[in-house]
Amino acid sequence: MFLPRLSPSARVRLARRACLAAFVPVVLLLAGCDLSELWRMDGHQSTLHVAGPVAAAQRDVFYVTWWVTLTIFALVGSTLAYATWKFRVRNAADEHAAPPPQSHGNPLIELSLIGLSVGALVIIAVPTLKGIWYTYDVAPAERANVYEVNATGYQWWFRFDYPTEQATVQGNVKAPLVTANELVIPAGRPVRINLRTVDVIHSFWIPKLAGKVDMIPNRANFIWLKADEPGYFWGQCAEYCGDSHAVMRFRVVALEPKEFAAWLEQQTQTARDLPANVAESDRPKAQFASLRAPNDFSVNESGITDRFEVSPLDAWRAHQIPEKHENPELIAKGKTLFTAKTCIACHTVRGHGAQGVTGPDLTHFAARTTLAAGLLENNPEQVRRWLHNPGAVKPGNKMAKGFADNNVTLTAEDEEALVAYLLSLK
Ligand code: CUA
Repeated sequence: MFLPRLSPSARVRLARRACLAAFVPVVLLLAGCDLSELWRMDGHQSTLHVAGPVAAAQRDVFYVTWWVTLTIFALVGSTLAYATWKFRVRNAADEHAAPPPQSHGNPLIELSLIGLSVGALVIIAVPTLKGIWYTYDVAPAERANVYEVNATGYQWWFRFDYPTEQATVQGNVKAPLVTANELVIPAGRPVRINLRTVDVIHSFWIPKLAGKVDMIPNRANFIWLKADEPGYFWGQCAEYCGDSHAVMRFRVVALEPKEFAAWLEQQTQTARDLPANVAESDRPKAQFASLRAPNDFSVNESGITDRFEVSPLDAWRAHQIPEKHENPELIAKGKTLFTAKTCIACHTVRGHGAQGVTGPDLTHFAARTTLAAGLLENNPEQVRRWLHNPGAVKPGNKMAKGFADNNVTLTAEDEEALVAYLLSLK
């Protein structure tokens, strides 16, 4: 029996109030109210303020489920609250009153509830299935326009391959372009990203564009996405993958077709030659005089500033241009040290003789806004901090192990020279 002690007029009042409670979310929904606007949930990794159709489809499925469940919550919750209040114990007589007559239920109400539950599930299922179909792969009509790249997970960074772009290795020798940790893509065009891993399971996620899809050993996964407009987006590994999982991040930079072509043109060149013929007066005596000593960083200090002085995309553009005041001698010394200190065993710098593949390709390292897989801002202070003690920044990483295994020690002068060299690689 449903609310057995209600008089007919009380039932009418109850029904009215329940409808009113259910009405609030429906009004919000009909008003096209955007929840993310209500609470300004538009951080760098917001899945509510999105920048592409795949993330939008995922967000829409979330909203459908949100509204359906919110409506159910409002109906059940308000009925429960009303009944709790209405039938509360008021006096001693209520305390010892006999229980109301028991029954085995009301077929009409029970069938209606089953019907409503099925209806709610159908309302959720239809857009969900549509979303799964849409986000799985690029629509057939758009396939001819797909740009394809490969992303490979490493503990703890991302390698990006451009199989269709030929980069100069040395002389006439060419190989597909390889970069790391900052994926540059054309805006307004569907991009299919083949997902691989060389070690454990990672997960590829750019909240504002698409995600998440796992990178699984011995399994060929892929994801597709599209950035509606040029922009700078934050991504990260979303599957626990060892010591430094929490700091396995990356960026995605979407560019207009023309700017993207110019970027490719630059990236496929070999590493920048050392600056020559810099007038004596233009040579900084101590290029990094103001550098904070590496030991001054606290253990938990993040080196990344997510607040750029200009727009993030303009900050990225500024990174493509060589520094005004470079010290050619210091850079040349750093280049020599890059070999002497065994950096070449793990890193590639096309055109400078380094061909290692264990760590990120550094051919155009300084053209990235971040280092250490999106963790530190790519500036002299942070590069030196990383070189000084990579294990303190990213526990368990292979560079720290390589330093220990090969007895690599760097003096302050060595660090400065390596910083100058690395930051000359635009
Ligand atoms: Cu890779 Cu978590």
